[in-house]
Amino acid sequence: MTYFKWSNDYELGVEEIDKQHQTWLGLLEQLYDAMSRGDGSAVIGKVLDNVLTYTKVHFSTEEKLMESHGYPGLADHKTLHKGFIARIDETKASYDSGSMVNPIAVANALKSWLLDHICTDDRLYVPYVKSHS
Ligand SMILES: [Fe+2]
Repeated sequence: MTYFKWSNDYELGVEEIDKQHQTWLGLLEQLYDAMSRGDGSAVIGKVLDNVLTYTKVHFSTEEKLMESHGYPGLADHKTLHKGFIARIDETKASYDSGSMVNPIAVANALKSWLLDHICTDDRLYVPYVKSHS
């Protein structure tokens, strides 16, 4: 079961970034797949680990790209990235401490943050990077 599909609407036109966004959303798709089999609670810890690791890799790619093109909104964008990492960290910490973590709520929260970030915040820096290449 897939709760969303990659759509051309999410494409920003920078190949490396688009590929990473697809990989990133693919991690969430694994969570939705597991939930549809009734395995959401069993995989949530692993998925959170994977999402956290990949998010750091991806944000660092984006930040280097913005930095190398002198994007003026870099500091603000970094703040958004930090905030998101803190949120995943928090969820992971409560899972690790044995608190009940609802996989559906986690999946939906991650999905809406990611899609919103791609479609709004990332859309701001990509045209700048492209026009200053
Ligand atoms: Fe971003």
